[in-house]
Amino acid sequence: MNVGAATFGREPLNIFTEVALASHNSLALQARAHAFVSVTSNDQLVAALAWARARNMPVVPLGEGSNIVFSGDINALVVRQETRGIEVLETGANRVVLRVAAGENWHALVQWALERGYYGLENLALIPGTVGAAPIQNIGAYGVELHSVLLQVHATLIASDEPLTLDKAACELGYRDSIFKRDLKDKLIITAMDLELSLQPRVVTTYPALASYFQQHPHIDPTPEAAFNAVVSIRRSKLPDPKIEPNAGSFFKNPLVPAKAGSALRKRFPLLPTFPQSDGSVKLSAAWMIEHCGWKGLRRDDLGVHKHHALVLVNYGNSSGKQLLALAEEIALSIYSKFAVHLEIEPAVYGTPT
Ligand code: EPU
Repeated sequence: MNVGAATFGREPLNIFTEVALASHNSLALQARAHAFVSVTSNDQLVAALAWARARNMPVVPLGEGSNIVFSGDINALVVRQETRGIEVLETGANRVVLRVAAGENWHALVQWALERGYYGLENLALIPGTVGAAPIQNIGAYGVELHSVLLQVHATLIASDEPLTLDKAACELGYRDSIFKRDLKDKLIITAMDLELSLQPRVVTTYPALASYFQQHPHIDPTPEAAFNAVVSIRRSKLPDPKIEPNAGSFFKNPLVPAKAGSALRKRFPLLPTFPQSDGSVKLSAAWMIEHCGWKGLRRDDLGVHKHHALVLVNYGNSSGKQLLALAEEIALSIYSKFAVHLEIEPAVYGTPT
């Protein structure tokens, strides 16, 4: 590995070239970054962007790599966000406003907040990845989405280093979706996020798996701590640890279809789980459809569909991103031919297939 060290202003910056990315993505996919830098401050970020701009090189932001597929080598400067810091900006009678740096680990933030009696994040426990990645796909689990606590997102524009703040409405958050996946894709790097949490316990236990956990444990009061513990226990029982079985969580989104199509599907497949949405559409369980098509537990060479959760694709060895995407395509085609429903993949895809 070549090392290009440089000093920019006050901040020393180490830019490495031809860096292996397997340890930087939770699917452990083999790929190389043409250039790679870790940044621990906004000054370093600005310096890294200037370095790339001077070479006309694209920039790819990276957190912990838990929702990314490298489909080939990355002909860009990969910027690993390692900025840290959680600041209490404001405390009111019932609420607290936090500013959290993009490089903080999401689950560590959830624990930190709960320990201090700042409530609202419990259902989002154990979601892998960094704070900076959270708004991109509006992380959500067990009946809560980031949307319910987000105030604003701070970012730096890649083309000009200009700082930018987007309020929640400007982020256009949707189910596993935001403006950062669409119009602002590859245009900025998220540097921090402001969250509003409650000083009063507020517990959401309506999500089926969580509701049945509390039904099965009637002696446990549904406090925020209990909700956190329940989510941790449910997730551990069905979602594989990427350190042992490399994966990126749900590989497909649950498809949204118009109400009419949803009820037509329910007539043909009465057991298909469907979740009516506030906009009148219906969310379908992709996991159920994948399982119904016989994929759950499949193992093909170094790739597999996890035996406890059909939405999780696993790289058991040295699979390439290209092979993984080919399997995903095959799964999506089989779902389409049985249900006439398009499955969209959830992780971001980067890289030039070789
Ligand atoms: N199901 C199956 N087969 C399976 C797994 C699930 O039929 O192999 C059925 C379940 O029986 C249930 C329904 O599918 O009726 C929903 O299952 P689950 O509660 O596990 O949720 P999910 O829709 O499969 C989504 C998120 C998860 C999140 C859970 C809990 C997406 C794409 N995935 O999964 O997020 O943890 O809900 O809220 O929306 C992730 O994004 O990486 C992720 C894990």
